[in-house]
Amino acid sequence: MKTKIQKLACLCCLSAGISVLPVCAQDNAQEIQFDIQAKQSLFPVQSTMYGVFFEDINFGADGGIYAELVKNRSFEFQDALMGWIPFGTVKIEEKDPCFERNPHYVRLSFGQEITQTGLENEGFKGMGIKAGESYFLSTYARVQSKRPVRIRIELISESNHIFETKELTVSGNDWKKYQVTLTPQQTEKRAHLRLTLIDPGTIDMDHISLFPENTYKKRPNGLRADLVEALKDLHPGIFRFPGGCIVEGTTRATRYQWKNTIGPVENRPTNINRWFYTFSYRKFPDYYQSLGLGFYEYFLLSEDIGAEPLPVLNCGLSCQYENDDMDEHARLDELQPYIQDALDLIEFANGSASSKWGKIRAEMGHPAPFNLKFIAIGNEQWGSIYVERLKPFVEAIRAKYPDIKIVGGSGPQASGEEFDYLWSEMKNLQVDLVDEHYYRHPEWFLSNAKRYDSYDRNAPKVFAGEYACHTDTQANSFLAALCEAAFMTGLERNADVVQLCTYAPLFAHVDAWQWRPDLIWFDNLSVFKTPNYYVQQMYSRNKGTDVVKLTRNNQPVAGENDLYASAALDKQTNELIIKVVNTGMYRRSITWNLEGFADGKRTAKVQSLQSLDLGNTQLVPTESSIELDVPKAKLTIKPFSFSVYRIPL
Ligand code: AHR
Repeated sequence: MKTKIQKLACLCCLSAGISVLPVCAQDNAQEIQFDIQAKQSLFPVQSTMYGVFFEDINFGADGGIYAELVKNRSFEFQDALMGWIPFGTVKIEEKDPCFERNPHYVRLSFGQEITQTGLENEGFKGMGIKAGESYFLSTYARVQSKRPVRIRIELISESNHIFETKELTVSGNDWKKYQVTLTPQQTEKRAHLRLTLIDPGTIDMDHISLFPENTYKKRPNGLRADLVEALKDLHPGIFRFPGGCIVEGTTRATRYQWKNTIGPVENRPTNINRWFYTFSYRKFPDYYQSLGLGFYEYFLLSEDIGAEPLPVLNCGLSCQYENDDMDEHARLDELQPYIQDALDLIEFANGSASSKWGKIRAEMGHPAPFNLKFIAIGNEQWGSIYVERLKPFVEAIRAKYPDIKIVGGSGPQASGEEFDYLWSEMKNLQVDLVDEHYYRHPEWFLSNAKRYDSYDRNAPKVFAGEYACHTDTQANSFLAALCEAAFMTGLERNADVVQLCTYAPLFAHVDAWQWRPDLIWFDNLSVFKTPNYYVQQMYSRNKGTDVVKLTRNNQPVAGENDLYASAALDKQTNELIIKVVNTGMYRRSITWNLEGFADGKRTAKVQSLQSLDLGNTQLVPTESSIELDVPKAKLTIKPFSFSVYRIPL
């Protein structure tokens, strides 16, 4: 009876998204024993096991990790002045441009009028400015007259107060780059930029850019240091990029093309973002990709955060949800350039500095190869049209680069006829890994903790490439995080099959998101880590080196009494790592039978996420230590908790 009440209460809460539980945690007297073969490795955990998946969604790139503060710096959005508020005489021109692939520029003219001429840029929901830090305003400009023209540069607060002013003088009729350093003494979350002509004359400007000096590692064209640090703190083993749906594109023309994302940033052609709309109530017609964060920068970021790069390339199909006829897809006889893009990408990443594409990488600043080991072809594609296209990619990559691991897809569903069809085709094609995606409700996550126990051990491995627990509200919550933690015990227990996994999406701007939940939220100045983030971090920082057997009555611990558990050995630190999740409202007393431990005492380190408020979004893990008698260690597992124990062997 007790169990039944408990189950009802839990499932009610889970499906209705109830936040604070109506009951108090209580003890459940039942004695439970878990057996752990603490010193017998079953199989290794791949160093790539837990990673991150980056997509330019929710303003994750432009307006997010890419530190550029100016929106539409190249005047290439469909409405060329989108993001800008012109005043006075302002025109868009394209004759005799500065950048061939971004030909539009702005012409500002000023005579003796009373009204001034200039432009304001709104940034990405404003510009985050920090007092005492330096910002580089740069532009390419020329004058149409003989005399130089001065421009006033101002930073303006949300309350319309000018808090930094500098001047720039432009001279000569040829395009030249200019740079001015701003050193504001005021912090603003939603500042904007104003440029005003001071002298009479006509001036052309393009690629108007504002970057903080303090990007990650102070790199020019760099990334927001706080967001990179948040990724590093996850200790990711794999870094999947650049999407997601943006790889496919809303149309064939707007698919992601990596070759457009390398070389000088000024000449990378702007592309509309697939996420300019999602749900009817959230439209972002101003969502474009400057591609300033391109494939070179993605590879560099992988290196910075210590993860193996995993680029995803378009397979010749655009988004199948958007395009159900063949007009927007490449025919089979048109596929060769797409395949060549994949081969060239491998050369760009791994080729010598004297190879055609390796040379470009070297010229961009990275003579050493990036040591690419994985490539994914296609995102959420389905049907025979995907399989037919993937096949020639696999053949070409295998022939030229037999060591590269190829990731194929299983479509947007996590089960069903289409999923089964794709899996059988992936086996036929002998891809190395199959990418599975699941954005599912809490019950699904809990019941799928056993998902991989029965997977074919001789088939391609699994890449859980996009997953997140979605409650009814689709908000981040401790509830979702807890269900993810429970599910992930099943990933760890099956680390011989599941070799990579990445939560999705990764980033979201609090004022400009299209999709939730997300792992990391940010505004223009700050970062907010979710309980879901900490679950990922607790797994990745405690992945250990080898999985060991953890059972109750010789069965995996995957839901009985609301408990989920897995264990790993860390051969480097000589510790046993136990992860245990209690998704129920009862405290549980567990005897851990640590086979292989001699009689004695151990001090274990404990990290725990626990709350009775399942809607909690502020939760952070606590750290403590505990004395244990081994080999039969007794532990009390709190209700609604995820804990990691590190026990010295
Ligand atoms: O992560 C958000 C989107 O979900 C991805 O772009 C796509 O692959 C999936 O449908």
